[in-house]
Amino acid sequence: MGDDTLDFLRFKENHHQKSAVPQAVLDSDLHITWANKAFENLFHRQEGCTGEHIAGFAQLSGLDGRSLYHQLKDPSTGNSFTGNGESRFQHHPRLFTNVHIVPIYREPGADESVSGYCAYFHDATQSHKQSLRAIFLSLLEASRMKDNDTGRHIERVNRYSSLMAEYMYEDGTDLQVDRDFVENISFLAAMHDVGKIGVPDDILNKAGSLEDWEWEIMTTHTLNGAYILGAYPDPMAVEIARSHHERWDGSGYPYGLMEDMIPLSARIVTIADVYDALRSRRSYKDEMSHEQASGLILLGSRTQFDPDLVDIFRVLKDNFAEIYDELEDTNLPPSSRRR
Ligand SMILES: [Fe+2]
Ligand SMILES: [Fe+2]
Repeated sequence: MGDDTLDFLRFKENHHQKSAVPQAVLDSDLHITWANKAFENLFHRQEGCTGEHIAGFAQLSGLDGRSLYHQLKDPSTGNSFTGNGESRFQHHPRLFTNVHIVPIYREPGADESVSGYCAYFHDATQSHKQSLRAIFLSLLEASRMKDNDTGRHIERVNRYSSLMAEYMYEDGTDLQVDRDFVENISFLAAMHDVGKIGVPDDILNKAGSLEDWEWEIMTTHTLNGAYILGAYPDPMAVEIARSHHERWDGSGYPYGLMEDMIPLSARIVTIADVYDALRSRRSYKDEMSHEQASGLILLGSRTQFDPDLVDIFRVLKDNFAEIYDELEDTNLPPSSRRR
């Protein structure tokens, strides 16, 4: 490292340590030589991060360490990079960043002698999430209109699913269930039936039982949902829509998947959805008490439901009842919706 870089580092340490803008100084191989507190906080790295490669931290979109290196060595880019990063953590939600990396020249204007880089980060997670969710919430509203769903079924399904995922996260038995998983399922469980937007109204709202051919069309809401949610950046959206009617013993639809072949998120939403459907009054059935509904969930272990998740349901079932009571539908005509 050249003397100029060292001077620059001292300057950074003196003036930028307290800056609220997360920033790091990199050597010419893109390893971190200095980072301010805001940077360490942003990446949840209180123990320091010098010596690590910047690509490992920021996971810059579409760029591995090598192509980032080539881009920064390229004088035609001004030895600079502007782009987005997406970082994942076990115990924190996913982080989206806007990133700018600019060169530190050994001598001003001499672009062949880059001695290091300065990287600036902006936390774009909230704005990213808000704009993404706004789009999918409108989609959800459209499907609810079509489905005549004035009740709070989907809100409750979000809450039960979130409750189970949170329990699994605290329990730590399944590494799939990180902070991101919990946060995503709490939003995406509600989307399980968006595919009903493609089912004709007379089938969707038919009182009484369905003919075989009508049932056949009804089942396509899983694949329609997967198609519609294909644009969502996390695969969980598609998994839930496609697989929330699969059964542990392989007798569900659309693909007859068995056991662990069914994505975990969908196995959780299935229990949440069935419990709530059992509790609710529909035109073709009466509502059930908590005792009856939870009894049926427990009975469905290994046939309809994942036995490990049913064990978790057994622990949490009183909380399910609380959520149902808290968000109970009031003064609504009996819905003719099918699960
Ligand atoms: Fe469904
Ligand atoms: Fe449902």
